[in-house]
Parts: sequence; structure tokens; C-alpha cells
Amino acid sequence: MFIQRIEDFQIPKEIDIQIGELLEEAFPGYPKGQSYYKQVPDFRYLVWNEEELIGHMAIEHRLMSNGGNPIKVFGVTDLCVKDSFQHKKLATRLLQELEDLGRKFELDFIILLARDHELYLTNGFQLVKNDCRWLLIHDNASLGIIHRKIEQTLMMKPLSSKKWKNGLLDFLGPAF
Ligand SMILES: CC(C)(COP(=O)(O)OP(=O)(O)OC[C@H]1O[C@@H](n2cnc3c(N)ncnc32)[C@H](O)[C@@H]1OP(=O)(O)O)[C@@H](O)C(=O)NCCC(=O)NCCS
Repeated sequence: MFIQRIEDFQIPKEIDIQIGELLEEAFPGYPKGQSYYKQVPDFRYLVWNEEELIGHMAIEHRLMSNGGNPIKVFGVTDLCVKDSFQHKKLATRLLQELEDLGRKFELDFIILLARDHELYLTNGFQLVKNDCRWLLIHDNASLGIIHRKIEQTLMMKPLSSKKWKNGLLDFLGPAF
């Protein structure tokens, strides 16, 4: 079993198809034949068991604004592990790899949206509530700016000495 980190634009078609199949299996209603939900990520972690893709995590590298301060962020999306390989700490390893990368290159926070918090709380993430602003994308069109409080799903992990602020969190792009 090994973990690969790859920039999205480098992913060959046949692997892109495997990613789409894994995402469809993991997330009911995921867009068919697609390896991204609304927008392509910057890079991904892929977990391989020989030729079989058994885990995935997509990452957006984004400058965001938190309470008026610019923050450098890794945004996590589409984290999943194939059923038969779950509960073996694979997702934990992926989050740890991302954290190591973020600390090495001086990112400020990892941010994600999740309804089930257990995995992330165990891995040192905190639930936060902020007024948020993001670009709404649907059917490959920009539909406008959403401004809404996000509670119960917004989670972050600090990687630098920057303190999290309770003011507006502006995604400066789509939500992830
Ligand atoms: C969430 C998921 C990636 C965890 O992968 P994993 O490799 O089994 O994770 P780990 O072994 O590192 O940690 C397992 C712990 O995560 C927690 N967990 C389980 N399902 C979870 C979920 N859907 N969301 C968050 N945490 C979850 C549990 O506390 C679990 O502990 P346990 O093994 O004692 O039951 C995997 O269950 C999955 O792919 N689920 C379907 C897709 C999904 O819901 N992804 C999360 C999107 S936010």
C-alpha cells in the first residue's frame, strides 16, 4: 500500500476515471463520471493497494480572509476510503500527511466542512462558527455570492501561530 501526492492537471485519464468511481461509491449522488464536485482541486492524495485505488483526498490551496486577515489555507474535500479498508487509520494518515506538508510550507490553517466530526476531532480539528461568504457554482456557471453563517460543519486546524477570528470567513472563491 502506498500514498501518492499528485497535482490534478497531471492525473492520467484512466486514473481520473478510477477516482470518479471511488467518489461515486463513497458519496451517494456524486456527479456521475466526474472526479470533482463543482471545481477541480489543486492536488490530491491517492492511496493505492497495488493497482487498486482505495483512498482519496482532494486539496484546494487558497488564500482566504478570516476576520479581515489573509490566511493561507489547505481546504480538504472528498476524503474517502474504500469500505473494506476503513477503520485502519488510512484517513488519519492522509490528514497527517497534509498537516506535515502545510507546516513545512508555512500554511496557516487546514479547513473543511463535515457533518460527522469524529474523525476530525480525533485528529485535532476544532468546530468553529463564522459568517461565511463564497462563490456559488452550479452546472459550470457562477451564480452569485452566498453570505451565510456556517455552524455545525465548519472545522479548522491551525498550523501556524495565527489565531482564528470569529468574524467573516471569506472563501475568496467557491466553498470546498
Ligand atoms: C470518513 C472515512 C474517510 C474514514 O476513513 P478511515 O480510514 O476509516 O478513517 P480512520 O481509520 O483514520 O478513522 C476512523 C474513525 O473515523 C470516524 N468516522 C467514521 N466515519 C466517519 C465519517 N463519515 N465522517 C467522519 N468521521 C468518521 C470514526 O470515529 C472512526 O473510528 P473507528 O474506526 O473507531 O470507528 C471513511 O469512513 C469514508 O470514506 N466514509 C465515506 C465518505 C465520507 O463520509 N467521507 C467524509 C466526508 S467529510
